[in-house]
Amino acid sequence: MRNTALIAFLTAAATMAGCHSSGTNSKEADHRGPPRDIGSYIANMESPDRAEWQQVEQVLAALNLQPGDRVADVGCGPGYFAIPLARAVGPTGVVWAVDIEPKMLERLRQHIAEANVDNIRTVLAPDNDPTLPPGAVDTILIVNTYHHFPDRPAYVAKLKRALTPGGRIANIDFIPRTREARGFGPSFDHQLAREAADKEMAANGLYPAVVHTFLPEQYFVEYRTRGE
Ligand SMILES: C[S@@+](CC[C@H](N)C(=O)[O-])C[C@H]1O[C@@H](n2cnc3c(N)ncnc32)[C@H](O)[C@@H]1O
Repeated sequence: MRNTALIAFLTAAATMAGCHSSGTNSKEADHRGPPRDIGSYIANMESPDRAEWQQVEQVLAALNLQPGDRVADVGCGPGYFAIPLARAVGPTGVVWAVDIEPKMLERLRQHIAEANVDNIRTVLAPDNDPTLPPGAVDTILIVNTYHHFPDRPAYVAKLKRALTPGGRIANIDFIPRTREARGFGPSFDHQLAREAADKEMAANGLYPAVVHTFLPEQYFVEYRTRGE
């Protein structure tokens, strides 16, 4: 492999699955910050290889969304889930697609135009607040993003305020494994065990109501308020 090709390959491998590598550079070391190469970051999130382990259709089937549902995709990226979500809830439903990175939303808007859906509201948010309307969202989906939130318990409190009575937060994130073991994905120190998320949800009165176990690389947990 020529040197330039090798460097490109290593960069892509490090950002595979939309999570960038840790490194000596301070920007890279801060896992909440955007990677330097947004183009590769987006390309990796949209990689055809992702379908095998991400299983979008199965995830949507498991969520059992209904036409007219009001859904938020927080940390939506270029819309790997937002577009299928929009189709699942149909023209009477709505998807708030929230991200902190304008280029993600730019790419998402391209997909929205191609997919010809008109029920997605793109939301450019600050990193500490999804800025969702209070009491308005039936399902909040977070994929490979929860570990990015700066103060997670405080962020969850804001997510919870956006839920309708009986609403849920579905969190999908990588099961901690070394990159050597998985062959792709975020570096080990950027991954967050499900138990940590459970505790932070519990601190906000949310419990794991449903735990899906079919994804090979990620945990997938639906949290609800007890008694609802
Ligand atoms: C690994 S990507 C996952 C994107 C998408 N959920 C997917 O599965 O393809 C993480 C996304 O979260 C966004 N993000 C990072 N921190 C965030 C925050 N505090 N609030 C909202 N989005 C955030 C990033 O810009 C990026 O688009």
